[in-house]
Amino acid sequence: MILIKLGGSIITNKEKPLSSRRKTINNIMKQIKKIKEPKIIVHGGGSYGHYWSVKYDMHTKPAKNDMRGVAIVKNSMVELNKIILDIAVKNRINAYCLPPTDFMNGNKPIKNKILTINDISKSELTPVTFGDALWFGQKKSYILSGDVIMTTIAKILKPRLSIFVLNVDGVYSNIKSKKLIYDFKKDRPKIATNSMDVTGGMTRKITEAAKISKAGMKVFFVNGNKPKRISDAVTGKKFEGTMFRS
Ligand code: IPE
Repeated sequence: MILIKLGGSIITNKEKPLSSRRKTINNIMKQIKKIKEPKIIVHGGGSYGHYWSVKYDMHTKPAKNDMRGVAIVKNSMVELNKIILDIAVKNRINAYCLPPTDFMNGNKPIKNKILTINDISKSELTPVTFGDALWFGQKKSYILSGDVIMTTIAKILKPRLSIFVLNVDGVYSNIKSKKLIYDFKKDRPKIATNSMDVTGGMTRKITEAAKISKAGMKVFFVNGNKPKRISDAVTGKKFEGTMFRS
C-alpha cells in the first residue's frame, strides 16, 4: 500500500484564503492514477482549514474553543475535500471519502476502523481523508493534522512507501542548489514558518516523517509541482526529492 499526503501548500494557494490549485491537483491526480497498488490519500488544510483555525485561535492542543470556529473550520475542510474528491473522480480514481471522525475517537485512533481502511484500499476504491477540526470530549476540540494522520495510519497499516507531496523539492527548497530548508542540528526550519500554519508547517512534516521512518518504513518528500516524481518514486525508477530512511 502507498500512503500519500497532499500538503496544503501544494493543493491550495497559501497566500490567498480559500483558494485551491485545481490544475496542480489535477496533475497530481493523473500521476496517482498511474499507481497500480492500493493507495490511501490524506490531504492538508492549506488556505482553507488553516485560515479559519488561525481566525478562531484553534490549535492541535485540545481546548474549549469557540464552537462556531469548529463548525467553520470543519465546513471549510469539507469544501476543500470536495474539490479533491471531484478532481480524483474526474481522473477515474474511485475516491472514497473518509473524514477522520470515521476512525478517530477523540484523539485516539480506532484500530479496527483503520484496518478497514486497508481493506477498502485493496478494493477498487481509494480512501481519502484529511486534517480536520475534531471533537475531543468534555466540550473540547482540537485540530488534527493530516501529517499526524499519516503516522497513525502508517504505524497500523505499514505502507510500502509514504509520500509527502509538498510545494518544495523535499527538505531542500531546490534540489540543484541543495539549499536546506530545515536545520537538522538545531531541529528547526531555516525559513520562517508560516504563521498561518496552526499544525506546525514543515517542522510537523519532518517530525512525522521521522517517526514513520524510525518505525522502519520508507518515507519520501516530493515536489508536487513535478508530479511525475510521485509515480517515479513508486516504481522506484528514479528518486528526486528527500528520502527518509530508518
Ligand atoms: C490541517 O491539516 C487541518 C486544519 C487546519 C483544519 P494539515 O496540518 O495536514 O495541513 P497542511 O498540509 O499543513 O496544510
